Amino acid sequence: MPCQITLQPSGHQFNAERTETLLEAALNAGVNLPYGCRNGACGACKGRIVEGEVELGAFQPTTLTEADRAEGRALLCTAHARSNLTLEIREVGKAGEIAPRTLPCRVERMERLTPDVMALWLKLPANERLQFLPGQYIDFLLKDGRRRSFSLANHPEHDALIELHIRHVPGGWFTDQVFGSMKVKDILRIHGPLGSFCLNESDKPAILLAGGTGYAPMKSILSHALHAAEGRHFILYWGARTRADLYQTEGPQQWVQQFPRFNFIPVLSEPGADDAWNGRTGFVHEAVLADFADLSGVEVYACGSPAMIDAARRDFTGRGLPSDAFYADSFSFQG
Ligand SMILES: Cc1cc2nc3c(=O)[nH]c(=O)nc-3n(C[C@H](O)[C@H](O)[C@H](O)COP(=O)(O)OP(=O)(O)OC[C@H]3O[C@@H](n4cnc5c(N)ncnc54)[C@H](O)[C@@H]3O)c2cc1C
Ligand code: FES
Repeated sequence: MPCQITLQPSGHQFNAERTETLLEAALNAGVNLPYGCRNGACGACKGRIVEGEVELGAFQPTTLTEADRAEGRALLCTAHARSNLTLEIREVGKAGEIAPRTLPCRVERMERLTPDVMALWLKLPANERLQFLPGQYIDFLLKDGRRRSFSLANHPEHDALIELHIRHVPGGWFTDQVFGSMKVKDILRIHGPLGSFCLNESDKPAILLAGGTGYAPMKSILSHALHAAEGRHFILYWGARTRADLYQTEGPQQWVQQFPRFNFIPVLSEPGADDAWNGRTGFVHEAVLADFADLSGVEVYACGSPAMIDAARRDFTGRGLPSDAFYADSFSFQG
């Protein structure tokens, strides 16, 4: 018998089978809850069990900490209902309103942006467009049912081609193909748009924290928001190892000239002697901590490795950032 799930504060209700995760049950019922990785790594789907029993499933302990569990929190992408439940979680509005679709696409262009980052531009069939909100991602649907997620980098209205920035994971099943055998005109299958990592409507200054190819969704967000969100201040902190690992920097540099309410701070963790780097150094989230004694009045949007996201979440909330003002897409592995 399915369990009845009631959401707070909305009062929305849906049924969940014991075999499906709470997130699957909600999405199947048309209830749009926030999510990102769907495998217990990013924390986007974290909610609080107000009443009832759940089985937490396989989550990463850094994402659902002991303190979280003591407060009754659960990751809805891994948790299963074991009784009727009352859950506290914020629902998403617009991102979930775009139904994901499965589409074929053709590799139109490939460009090495750095030694280990490839930009892919994908073309959809004639008369097809992928509607998405800046910050969302797509999954490649591969053989054997494997899926690999990548964030959309293009401006949502410039959707003739889909732009992705793909970092090579040596030995990786998919990215080895991208850097090895993939060529222009290859046909792939994608599913999207997915995820709820999107800019909130707010007047608060937004700190955008990107690690490596975490720049991809930030490029999409900024190319839209700098024109649309009038008056809002944005700072992009972009971390990479060396100068050669930063790419397309002419984009943010041009926005700095064009928009006085935008600032761009590249941060290198291991600048080489040849880099002649006189910019910021160290871990990218520490550059934010060095600049902000108090983060209580901002929102943070972070995208990159799980380690960077975890460190930023921990240290920023320790600096006064409300935990519901930290939005992240963690580049976890689907393997
Ligand atoms: C929502 C979301 C959005 C993402 N967006 C992007 C993006 O825009 N650009 C981008 O470059 N990546 C992005 N990623 C990460 C990307 O999906 C993975 O790097 C990719 O799936 C690796 O696929 P693979 O088949 O080559 O490696 P796999 O065959 O899956 O992995 C091989 C081994 O490499 C390790 N590994 C896999 N991925 C990584 C990684 N990212 N970092 C370190 N070690 C790894 C694992 O230990 C694994 O055992 C995103 C991930 C998520 C969840
Ligand atoms: S969507 Fe649940 S932890 Fe990422």
